[in-house]
Amino acid sequence: MSDKTNYYVTTPIYYVNDKPHIGHAYTTILADVLARFHRAEGHSTFFLTGLDEHGQKVQQAAEKRNVSPQEHCDDMAPRFLELWEKLHIRYDDFIRTTEPRHENVVQNILQKVFDSGDIYFDEYGGYYCVGCERFYTKKELEDGKCPQHQKELQYITEKNYFFKMSKYQQQLIDHVKKNPEFLRPQHRKNEILGFLRQPLEDLCISRPKSRLSWGIELPFDKDYVTYVWFDALLNYITGPGFGVDNKTFTKWWSNCVHLIGKDILMTHAVYWPTMLMSAGIDLPQTIFAHGWWLMGESKMSKSLGNIVNPLELIDRFGVDPVRYYLMREMVLGQDANFTMESFVRRYNSDLANDFGNLLSRVSTLIGKNFEGIIPAPGDLTVADSAIRVGAEATITLVRQLISDMRINEGIEETLQFIRSVNRYMEQQAPWKLVKTDLKAGGRVLYTAGEGLRVAAVLLSAVMPSRTKSVLKTLGNAGSALKWGELKAGAEIKRHSPLFPRIDLEKEVKTASKPEKPINVITYDDFDKVELKTAKVIKAEKVEGADKLLKLQIEVGTEKRQIVAGIAEFYQPDELINKLIVVVTNLKPATIRGIESNGMLLAAKKGKALTLITLESKDLPSGIRVF
Ligand code: MSP
Repeated sequence: MSDKTNYYVTTPIYYVNDKPHIGHAYTTILADVLARFHRAEGHSTFFLTGLDEHGQKVQQAAEKRNVSPQEHCDDMAPRFLELWEKLHIRYDDFIRTTEPRHENVVQNILQKVFDSGDIYFDEYGGYYCVGCERFYTKKELEDGKCPQHQKELQYITEKNYFFKMSKYQQQLIDHVKKNPEFLRPQHRKNEILGFLRQPLEDLCISRPKSRLSWGIELPFDKDYVTYVWFDALLNYITGPGFGVDNKTFTKWWSNCVHLIGKDILMTHAVYWPTMLMSAGIDLPQTIFAHGWWLMGESKMSKSLGNIVNPLELIDRFGVDPVRYYLMREMVLGQDANFTMESFVRRYNSDLANDFGNLLSRVSTLIGKNFEGIIPAPGDLTVADSAIRVGAEATITLVRQLISDMRINEGIEETLQFIRSVNRYMEQQAPWKLVKTDLKAGGRVLYTAGEGLRVAAVLLSAVMPSRTKSVLKTLGNAGSALKWGELKAGAEIKRHSPLFPRIDLEKEVKTASKPEKPINVITYDDFDKVELKTAKVIKAEKVEGADKLLKLQIEVGTEKRQIVAGIAEFYQPDELINKLIVVVTNLKPATIRGIESNGMLLAAKKGKALTLITLESKDLPSGIRVF
């Protein structure tokens, strides 16, 4: 167990280009469980989470919605906050990278690293992935595609600022080797050490404002903004007060654990430590990369449409069962499969049968036979002592396991203990015992009740709300992790069933057959969309927007202007006189300050796009397309 008394835990800061999903929920619950555990251990604890608000993806998402990037961020932030509230996340600070406190830190560190000579200006060529917000080298690509997003990447050259990451390669290798706790789990550490066998390249840290304006300006060149990772990673030091309150900062930074998903291991295990080395800041204690939640063996992704919405799960089953499932089912460091069936099975066996059942048996029997007053423990028999010894051993073991981040094992040990108390109840049969020896029956119920209390306390970081109900039911019992806290003489409180059973068949059926088929529309719905042929009269580039073309089109006798994101695929001249298909009854929009009155149809796959045109060149513009 860590003997450190200060504990600082972080989640990645999430991109605001998307709605929060189970992946975001998972890491944040994990951090919350660790933070609650450490608080209960008496450690002074700081839990930071937040949002990554700059970069191309956010700029594009905002453009799509026709709002400014800041407005987009402000609209998205509450969705995350709402989810954290529903998930009972007790964070200490929520950081947004557009906050001035963060922008100051980024500029301050950039200047420092620049002054020390670790940043230089150069021309660069590489394969850029917007999804990852980073450049790849040719050898890192898989069949010319991004290894994370499987999208073809384009080679871009541009003048940019670079951070001398290569300079710190050996220092990083030494640190990783000397500090077994630094990169976890072990196989991720090996992966990084393997990667570091190749010469490390320098890191491009800027974007020209002409290509990306939504970022933090470089303090030494106002035509550039910083590249996303040099911005985002620094949130971990902004949160605890770097440069503002150095005493507090040092307190937290001395024992910091970064929780991340395996997809962002490289940026955290290589970029981040070298940046800190250059800035003269100590490295975090631990970077822990967890696996991915998969849906039936495949990755959850928006394009596959298999993203689990955590809010829906909470609304149906309550927050604690969702937290429990996510923590119990994933072996930290490995991938796990999310299925409705395993969720219901886990819930019914662990929570309804083992945990919930023990509470209802103990409370009902005390209610019936002792007028609801917790009986005295009396002198323990061998069987009772075995429960006490089991409880004490479980307390020690679970504390060790959770402080070592083996949460699923800690939960399983607690459940094993609960099962042993249930078996003890079966063997002792207090419902029979009370008829011949009331005192002995009372002693068994006290022992089982105290075992239940200990188990509830051990599970309280994972299920804060329902374990609180257990303690309340057990006569407002205390939460100290030592035997004998259950108060004889206290009154058992009424409670509704803690974990009512879920009907597996019904749930699995509902999950596999959505009530309302998505994406089916009636003819009337389709008929609302007015599609017409249109002829392109004039086409020109939109200044300052690489992707947009402004088109003048003719729709029958009517002339219209539309703005279309096709500049990367068509030269303006190629479009003149083309007969295309346009949605003509779409509400006009203003894109980059230019009015667009309609939308053209095109087919797009990856980096290829082609306009929908008409086979016959003789048709006039302005006729309806069905
Ligand atoms: N903004 C960056 C992180 C910057 S940290 C300085 C980012 N954001 S993200 O929103 O795309 O992802 C955040 C985290 O969610 C990552 O750790 C990622 O691994 C995690 N997950 C996304 N989908 C996931 C699953 N299906 N399962 C588990 N976690 C996954 O990356």
